[in-house]
Formats: sequence, C-alpha cells, structure tokens
Amino acid sequence: MAKTIQAIRGMNDCSPTESPLWQWVEAQVREVLNSYGYSEVRMPIVESTPLFARAIGEVTDVVSKEMYTFWDNDEQLTLRPEGTAGCVRAAIEHGWIYNNEQRLWYMGPMFRHERPQKGRYRQFHQAGVEVFGIANPEIDAELIILTARLWKKLGIDQHVSLQLNSIGSLAARANYRSALVAFLEKHQDLMSEEEKERLVKNPLRILDTKNQALQDVLDGAPKLLDYLDDESREHFGQLCALLDSVGIRYEINPKLVRGLDYYNKTVFEWITSALGAQGTVCGGGRYDGLVEQLGGHSAPGVGFAMGLERLVLLVQEVNRSIPVKNAVDIYVVYQGEGTALSAFQLAEKVRSTLPHLGTMLHCSGGNFKKQFKRADKSGASLALVIGESEVLNNQVVVKHLNGGVEQQTLDTEKVIDYIQSQF
Ligand code: HAM
Repeated sequence: MAKTIQAIRGMNDCSPTESPLWQWVEAQVREVLNSYGYSEVRMPIVESTPLFARAIGEVTDVVSKEMYTFWDNDEQLTLRPEGTAGCVRAAIEHGWIYNNEQRLWYMGPMFRHERPQKGRYRQFHQAGVEVFGIANPEIDAELIILTARLWKKLGIDQHVSLQLNSIGSLAARANYRSALVAFLEKHQDLMSEEEKERLVKNPLRILDTKNQALQDVLDGAPKLLDYLDDESREHFGQLCALLDSVGIRYEINPKLVRGLDYYNKTVFEWITSALGAQGTVCGGGRYDGLVEQLGGHSAPGVGFAMGLERLVLLVQEVNRSIPVKNAVDIYVVYQGEGTALSAFQLAEKVRSTLPHLGTMLHCSGGNFKKQFKRADKSGASLALVIGESEVLNNQVVVKHLNGGVEQQTLDTEKVIDYIQSQF
C-alpha cells in the first residue's frame, strides 16, 4: 500500500460527526450578529506581508515568529494570522468608511505558527467584528453586550468571565512604558532571556508573563490605569457605567494589554477556566489610529474576534445538549426492473416540495435487506420503498424506521402530503 499523507500538525479536519455542532455554533453567531444589524464581509486569506507588519506591529509574537509567509515571484505574502488588518485594508481600499459608519463581521480560517496544544492550533477559525466611525463608548459596550448574548445562546455564559482594561492613548502608554521599564530593570535577575528581550522591544507584554516570580513582583509595578490621559479615563468610566447599568459583570485587569500593537483605550477578553491553558475565547478592543496608520482618512475603530475551536470545545465541555438535526430524514430504497427511474423521480419530487428535509437515495444497489440496513444506519425516520409492483401500480410503500407505526402503501400523488404530516 502507498504511504499515507497526513494533515499538517495543528491543522484539523472537521468530521461529519463534528460538523453539526460547528454549524450550530456558527448559526448562533450569525443570528446574534444579524440581530444587531451588522453586515458580513469576506476578505482574502492571503494578504501582502507588510500589511500585517504595519498593522499588528513588527515586535509582536504574531508578526515576529508566527506568520506563514512566502514569496510569490517578487511579492511577499502571508496567510492571514487575524482578520482586523485585512478588514481595515478592504475598508480603506473600497471606501466603506469614507464619511461613513460600518458595523461589519467576518468568519473564517486564520493561521499562526504556534506550538499546537488543546485550544491552540496553526489553522484556527475566528468570528470577528469590526466597527468603524464610532468613537463613543456606547459601541464598546454594545460589542460586549452582543458577545454576552451569544454566550447565553451557546449555553456557556456561566463558564466565561470578562476582563476589562484601558490602555489609553499612545502618549499615555509611552509614559507608562518608561515607568514600567524603570521598575522592571531592577528585577532583571528574575527574567528569562526572552523576557529581557521583551523589556527592550515590547515591555508591556511582560505584564502577562507566565513567570510566577515575575508576576509576584509585578503586583507592585506601576499601573497603566494611573497613567491614563483624561479622555481615555472618561471613556473607560462611561463604558464601565454602561456595563454596570445592564448588569454585565467584569473584572478590571490592569495587566491586560493584549498581544497586538494596534489597540488604544478599551481592551477586553472573555476567559474561561474550563479549557486549560488556552482560556481566552474572545478578545478585542479599540484601535482608533489604525485606519490612518494604514493610509486611510482617520476613523475610529473597535472590534473583537472569538476563537471558534475554543467555543466548540467549551460547548462540549459544559455538556450543553444542542438541537442537532440528523442529516437524513428520508431514505429511498428500490429494487427491480424499472424501479431506479421511479425512485429518482420520487426523491427529486420530495426535495423540490420539502427542501428542509434531507432525502437520500440509496444508489449503491443490493437487495432490500442490505438497503434497509443502510437506511437504518443513516438515522432516517422514514423509508420510501419502491419495488416492481409499486411501479406498476403507481404506489410507494412508506416504512417508519423507528418502529411503532404500521407501514403504509400510498398512491404516489399522496406521498408528499403524508410525509409532510410526519415531520
Ligand atoms: P486575538 O486575541 O489574537 O485577537 O485572537 C482572538 C481569538 O482568536 C482568541 O481569543 C482565541 O480565542 C482565538 N485564537 C487566537 N489564536 C488562536 C490559535 N492559535 N488557536 C485557536 N484559537 C486562537 C485578534 O485576532 C484580533 N484581530 C481581535 C480584534 C478584532 N481586535 C479588534 N478587532
């Protein structure tokens, strides 16, 4: 036998038994986003590499070590590691946000060359939202309220909690950065080589280090919230008041800075303790400077993205029973001279008149016994049976595969009404 070829590590297949849960989760996401009046956009999976370097930041983990980048003749291209950069690029390119507000969403695969583990993959899927043109904290609140509604729909609201912070303006962050570096320089003995490098390149990322000794020291470090500019402080206060007024609980986490450079003011993450180390199911924030930074007319932006693998895992973990519909409702079996044509015609008629039902035609031959075995295996609740005598008499036998009800022989023109009465 020839050697088999396996999927790339960290890139997963979705099996026929897993896809109903995925479809259900995606349908809940779509329903919530539509109910807030947001519009779907679809961007390419491949973008020019400098887009990500400029948007996300050269010194971030994503850009400095996790991107799948390749040369296409003399152009450097990258499989998108996230959706915000491409969405902003598209919005500028097509003038979507020129003197206009937009509330957009997208869903699809993203790629990061990370070490795979439960909840962390090299190809993963995000559902993301980007809102352009609205500077008020009302929209930050709406995004958080929208996600809270989704958690309820998915049945995971008791298993996630909200972390919130404001990282202020660029200038405020620069002041804070100096204070943090001055503080951390005294504790270099506790740092790994990587952390020492971060101290120079991206010191704010040290705030979410997993190094416990350093975390203990960080409790005494200067707090970003104390360095906020007045405008960011007011924005954050209004956001917190709005969340309080609708009863959304949150924890202000002064160490939450997020791993991408484009943020300012609000940042947030929804986290869970039910998935082990990869506990962030959704993250986002404001990025008021990004549109201009990528060459557009200045426009505020705010958004988030959730990891669909993590949501699917969490739904499974909390044993939420979901209304998954079997793919096949009706199985058509046939045997004998001239029966194939009648079976095809019948199956097509059912599909035309009752398109919400899954109708499967047997196709692979064999006697009725073998065909009924397949019908049972398909999970269908009705079998439509056509033998030579049914063809002659223009009839169909309807058999209930779950038992209980006697099988019926019906005239062909009555079959549709009968099926309809059974679902
Ligand atoms: P992010 O925090 O990098 O933000 O990713 C958002 C979510 O994607 C994470 O919270 C996580 O659920 C999921 N995720 C990230 N990496 C992986 C991975 N390797 N495997 C599985 N799931 C993963 C962003 O991507 C921003 N673009 C979000 C945003 C939109 N901010 C503003 N607008």
